[in-house]
Amino acid sequence: MVESAKESGCYITTPIYYVNDVPHIGHAYTSLACDVLARFHRSQRHKTFFLTGTDEHGLKVETSARKAGMKIKDFTDQVSGNFQRLVQELGCSNDDFIRTTQSRHIKAAQHFWRVLEEKGEIYIGRYRGWYCMRDENFVAESDVIKGDNDTHTTTDGAPLQWLEEDSYFFRLSQWQEKLLEFYRTHPHFIAPETRRNEVIRFVEGGLHDLSVSRTGISWGIPVPSNASHVIYVWIDALTNYLSALGYPNTEEDSFQQFWPADVHVIGKDILRFHAVYWPALLMAAGIEPPKQIFAHGWWTNEGKKISKSLGNVIDPFALIDTWGQDAIRYFLMREVPFGMDGDFSRQALRSRFNGDLVHGLGNLAQRVLTLIQKNCAGIVPDIGAETSEDRHMKDALHAMPIIVGRHIENLAFSRALEEIWRVIAAANRYIDAQAPWRLKKEDPQRMATVLHILYDVLRRLSVILAPFLPTGMKKLSEQLAIPEGSITLADSWPAVPSGLVLPPPAILYPRAE
Ligand code: MSP
Repeated sequence: MVESAKESGCYITTPIYYVNDVPHIGHAYTSLACDVLARFHRSQRHKTFFLTGTDEHGLKVETSARKAGMKIKDFTDQVSGNFQRLVQELGCSNDDFIRTTQSRHIKAAQHFWRVLEEKGEIYIGRYRGWYCMRDENFVAESDVIKGDNDTHTTTDGAPLQWLEEDSYFFRLSQWQEKLLEFYRTHPHFIAPETRRNEVIRFVEGGLHDLSVSRTGISWGIPVPSNASHVIYVWIDALTNYLSALGYPNTEEDSFQQFWPADVHVIGKDILRFHAVYWPALLMAAGIEPPKQIFAHGWWTNEGKKISKSLGNVIDPFALIDTWGQDAIRYFLMREVPFGMDGDFSRQALRSRFNGDLVHGLGNLAQRVLTLIQKNCAGIVPDIGAETSEDRHMKDALHAMPIIVGRHIENLAFSRALEEIWRVIAAANRYIDAQAPWRLKKEDPQRMATVLHILYDVLRRLSVILAPFLPTGMKKLSEQLAIPEGSITLADSWPAVPSGLVLPPPAILYPRAE
């Protein structure tokens, strides 16, 4: 079954975003989480491939282009450009940006289709049923709500249209047992646990064959054997994870190194496509499924569901403009345990920023660096005899990368940050208790030891926090005179070089009023 013998790479993906609309906070959220993970793995010297991109076919995109009065290609170029700008402004370190309108993807999606057809996994039939354009999915009769004037909607109000057309079907019903077996033998395939249970219950309930082509629309990838059909947008979209690695050329280095993906990070609303359809399609095509699907929760805005009709969509560009990249990154990763729903509020953002970044971390850096500048002529002092308080501080510091690393590997970003802030709080208590500003005259040896240890605290924080706060930690590393890339989480910590000269300190995060 296996068409890949993965060597060593780490492959992390976001969903590809529909280009029907402007980017919003939900898109920023998934991209950020993947970026933190990718940066963390690179810092461990793991070969890493971080993919994001745009999903550009389907009825929804076609309709939006028409509404905007634009040619579809111009429209998708423009909106895809907005998503590319978003990942840049968020500071994402993606290695590629895939667009489903690119020829490399079209070739891959058509090849994938051909393989399924050759293996007898796809057959032609006729679809009669409801279609939801918002979600680009087929809706079972039991989930349809009948309204006035013969209108029909999903249970949460999205309009439905009746379809009756020739369609190709994928034999999904044949994969029920194999999927359940796969979930049993791969207990970490779906995370968090509650999502896994949901999926298992759904599959146990029975699976119908899946309609995988459309004839009513033209904006899509033609079915290779029958140009009057286009490939259903979700089948097209899912194959992006393969096309970016050079599929169908499975002998290529990138495919060999990175497939199967380590994790597809997605929102909870698109779990079924990723955790049911995708592994079934892959197994049917003889390709190994990804190692994990991690579904995160949804953000509300000041307690309300985010929607265009309510006019409360949160613009990530405006947030970055006002607060800076690090503030947004920190807030989204810290405020809510990854996997749970969360609420966005300006008050919460302000208090996280001022409390944790300005006061907790910024203040610590400012105090230590100013003391080294003023009392030691900007030269990091050597360490002398240690007290039990010193050892206590160092123990907390040395344990931090291991604990934090474990949390990040589990995508428990908020717990990783909590752990780091425990060390920051301990360091702020340590500096208060040791009061190195008093020691210059009384006991300069002791002052040297305390400031040396505190320098080491900042140094380690700048490395461990870099995946979360790339801009601020770059600035901090410069103030600590650490050459870029010279310390990574993969190496043992080098000793602080003796006689290291620091530049004058500057404020890391200015307070927001
Ligand atoms: N194009 C599909 C994905 C195809 S992947 C092969 C799609 N695109 S989307 O643009 O509609 O959504 C992208 C992601 O944004 C989804 O993971 C979705 O969960 C996420 N979010 C949309 N609104 C959100 C919130 N309010 N909060 C958090 N994430 C949300 O689906």
